[in-house]
Amino acid sequence: MENQARKKRIFSGIQPSGDLTLGSYMGAIKNWVALQDEYECLYCIVDMHAITVRQNPADLRRRALEQLAQYLACGLDPQKNVLFIQSHVPQHAELGWILGCYTQFGELSRMTQFKDKSAKHKDNITAGLFTYPVLMAADILLYQADLVPVGADQKQHVELCRDIAQRFNGLYSDTFTLPEPFIPKMGARIMSLGNPESKMSKSDPDGCIYLMDKPEDVMRKFKRAVTDSETSVKFDKENKPGISNLLTIYCTATGKTLEEAEAEFAGQGYGVFKPAVGEAVVELMRPVREEATRLLADKAYLESVYREGAQRAQYLANKTLSKVQRKIGFIAR
Ligand code: TRP
Repeated sequence: MENQARKKRIFSGIQPSGDLTLGSYMGAIKNWVALQDEYECLYCIVDMHAITVRQNPADLRRRALEQLAQYLACGLDPQKNVLFIQSHVPQHAELGWILGCYTQFGELSRMTQFKDKSAKHKDNITAGLFTYPVLMAADILLYQADLVPVGADQKQHVELCRDIAQRFNGLYSDTFTLPEPFIPKMGARIMSLGNPESKMSKSDPDGCIYLMDKPEDVMRKFKRAVTDSETSVKFDKENKPGISNLLTIYCTATGKTLEEAEAEFAGQGYGVFKPAVGEAVVELMRPVREEATRLLADKAYLESVYREGAQRAQYLANKTLSKVQRKIGFIAR
């Protein structure tokens, strides 16, 4: 009954493992903002996932707080959404442990992200890196989320989450809502400026634009963006991946359509187009950067936001966790 009356619920998170980029903004946070009225949303800073590869403690702390300030500066309203830090809600770890006992070694071995990351960090393949998708399943299932906005690279993890939920429900009767990956139509996939064949990544400083980059850095990076040996500003992902990526960025930043953008730059070379994209991004990011900077100077406010977020999250998480504990045979506390 309660399920029918309530708005659909959304859960998503970003790891504070690097500074937020234009890719995180255009591909994720911008959509989160658009969803906040229609859905009941929880947006998390998943610091427990971040430590699956080694982090510098001071950087991790700084980035988690900056990420919260940036969520707010991008327009996420802390009244409408539950904004919180994963490690502040211990129920994630508790449910994660339980779900790990309902997940097969073989299933986790098949996760492509694990295969990629363990190949990259050969000297530090931790159990945490291996069980990462179980913690992610706990994130989602604790809140009975209906929809999980994620990039295509996370779809496999959401599918595993569904499998775990279904298995648990089958064993103990309906407990978890089965979540669906939600890949928004508008979600722009932003590629690296230096290598437009791969996704813009926070670990590639020259190919990515950080939300907090100064205008001159943004302009420099766009002027150096890799293009091709032709001259026409045309969208053609196959043959002109660099220009196509810049067009996507330009259109997302300005709200123009591809046709409008192509017409605007018809007959003009890349020397005109690239700085124009840079300027559009500078103008788009300026209010975000200024607001985030203002918020970061107000630690007391940020603290009040994450404390209240954690409280609201814990209230919801506890409902699910205690149900699960009872069903599997733990004695009530
Ligand atoms: N694994 C996600 C990523 O790297 C982050 C994440 C953790 C997440 N928990 C989540 C995303 C739950 C959606 C829902 O992008």
